Parts: sequence; C-alpha cells; structure tokens
Amino acid sequence: MTDEAPAAYVGQKRIVSGVQPTGDLHLGNYLGALIKFVRMQHEMETFIFVADLHALTEWQDPAKLKDQVREIVAAFLAVGVDPKIATIFAQSSVPAHAELAWIFNCVARLGWLDRMTQFKDKAGKHKERSSVGLYTYPVLQAADILAHKATHVPVGEDQRQHLELTRDIAAKFNHDFDRPGFFPLAEAVVQGPGARIMSLRDGKVKMSKSDPSDYSRINLTDDAEAISQKVRKARTDAEPLPDNLEALKARPEAENLVGVYAALSGVTAEVVLKEFAGQGFGAFKPKLADLAVSVMGPIGAEMRRLLADKGEIDRILAAGGEKARDTAAPTLAEVKKIVGYWAG
Ligand code: TRP
Repeated sequence: MTDEAPAAYVGQKRIVSGVQPTGDLHLGNYLGALIKFVRMQHEMETFIFVADLHALTEWQDPAKLKDQVREIVAAFLAVGVDPKIATIFAQSSVPAHAELAWIFNCVARLGWLDRMTQFKDKAGKHKERSSVGLYTYPVLQAADILAHKATHVPVGEDQRQHLELTRDIAAKFNHDFDRPGFFPLAEAVVQGPGARIMSLRDGKVKMSKSDPSDYSRINLTDDAEAISQKVRKARTDAEPLPDNLEALKARPEAENLVGVYAALSGVTAEVVLKEFAGQGFGAFKPKLADLAVSVMGPIGAEMRRLLADKGEIDRILAAGGEKARDTAAPTLAEVKKIVGYWAG
C-alpha cells in the first residue's frame, strides 16, 4: 500500500459501474448498461461490481443474497465482460466504499438528497418507513465511483441525477478541503441505442424488474420459448410500420419494438424502418422474436452453465475484490489524511 495512486493510473480514464443484485436482469439492463461494459472494457480501465451494500436498502433474504450476487456476475461474464481485462467484484468485499460513504454523508447536503427522484419513487407515500440507507443511497453510489477515482460511469438514463450528485460531492470535497482536482468529476455515459427500453406491455413505462407482469420484460435467463412468446404477446397497434421515425413518435409500443430490434442488431432505427416500412406486426414480430432468441438465448444458456459450478465465479470475485481493494486503498488513505482523521 502506498500513499499515492500508482503512476500508471494518473490522468487515465477509468470506468466504474455497479448493478444491484435485486431481481432478474432483463433486456433493458442488457441494452442499457451491460453491452456498454463489454465495449468500454477495451477502451478504458474497467471496474464493475455487484452492489450488495445498496441491496440492503430494501429487505433481502440473507440466505439468498450471495446467490443473487453470483447471478449478476454470471450475467456480466455471459454477455462478454472479460475478467482478464475488467475487474469484477462484490461491493461488500471493498470496505473503502462504506468508509468513504460516511465521509461523503458529511459533505452532501440534506437539500441535495431531498431532490433525488429515485428516492421519491422508491419510498412512495410512506417515506417515514423507508430505511435511512435508501435515503443516502446516492451518497454511497458517489463513494463507489470516487473511491476508484472513476472518470466515466456507464449507466441507464435513470441514473443521471445520481451522477450529478456525485459530481457535486466531488466538487464540494475538493473545495472544502482545498484540494482542487483531488476527486475527478465523473461523467455519466448514458447514450446508446438501448438507453431507454420500455415495457412490452406499455410503451410509456420503462422495462423494469419490479413490474408485476413477467410479460413486460425479457429476462436474461429466459429460454427461447419464453423469449418468443413474450415478443409475440407484446402490445402493439394495428398500423403497419411507417418509413420514418417521426411517424413513430405517437406510437410508443411500435417505437419501442423498432428500438429493440435496432439495438439488438446494432443498427439504427432508420435502417430497421427501411427494411420493414409498410409491413404489419404479423410480419415484424416473428423476425424480432428470432433476433431476440439468437442474441439473448446464448446469454441465458451461458449463465445457467456458469451458475451450475459456483467455483469459477467465486474465484473471479476473490481476485477482483483484491484488485479493487488495492486500487481504492491509496485514495482512502489520502482522504483520511486530508480530513484529519486519527486513524488511517
Ligand atoms: N444505482 C445504480 C442503479 O440502480 C447501481 C449503482 C450503485 C451504481 N453504485 C453505482 C451504478 C456506481 C454506477 C456506479 O442502477
């Protein structure tokens, strides 16, 4: 352990992102975040973790939590995150995240957290019954990012506000302790074809693991039969597909399916419309089902294979935890010195 960041990292770009181990991953997570990890791991130093600390902000069965963590890691590996290039770890194996979160709790202002829309959505009408952890959730997220001095954070659209808060915390820390530039102002990477994948039952709401209808989403673990059935049953309208994007605007379900097709095949929505203009959903859906099965089917199969033998995943998590602890250690040591802590 040294007091300084290893020279090789200084000035370099680094990705940190996390996924909560709460509920099945679906097509929206895949297109919104996971494929970005796969692409970006070749461009920047990459740290990806399973957010088991964040998971505890809502009740989790202690007997299941470890397997939930393994399932997320299986998804990372199955989509193509390479543990030889990217560091994959469990958040709870790097205590620096929680330690830094405490300090950031003292940097962030109550007024900033009061504005967080995800807390309002999750807490609903009874906010007095939410855990305090749910309220300070975005502060822990800032600690995840800044413990590793990330410069780029690939996330879904809904995380933009948390990334703004992360920058506010970094800037206030740097200012209050008179250490300009100590923490980088990390950028959210949200753009991409899958930034907003909607429910298959309602084109106006996001595809979500908390939707009570399983037909609203395609899960990463769905088999071919389930995938094509969900595509066949997806809500649509009676019109044929138009030849331009503008005409899709008032048809959220049609727009979503075209977007899914585009994202899965790696082309733009315009290209999809060129191919299908004038055709109805009777023709489009079977093509989309085949495409979804050919992309998602192998991912589910690989997850099942990986989960059948926990050894490989557990070894990857052990090695990743060690690497992430080493990366965070110099930053944490420096932070403790900066704030004047007794121990550190
Ligand atoms: N809040 C993120 C989500 O729900 C998960 C997360 C936790 C995260 N810590 C993070 C994402 C750090 C990016 C960076 O999707």
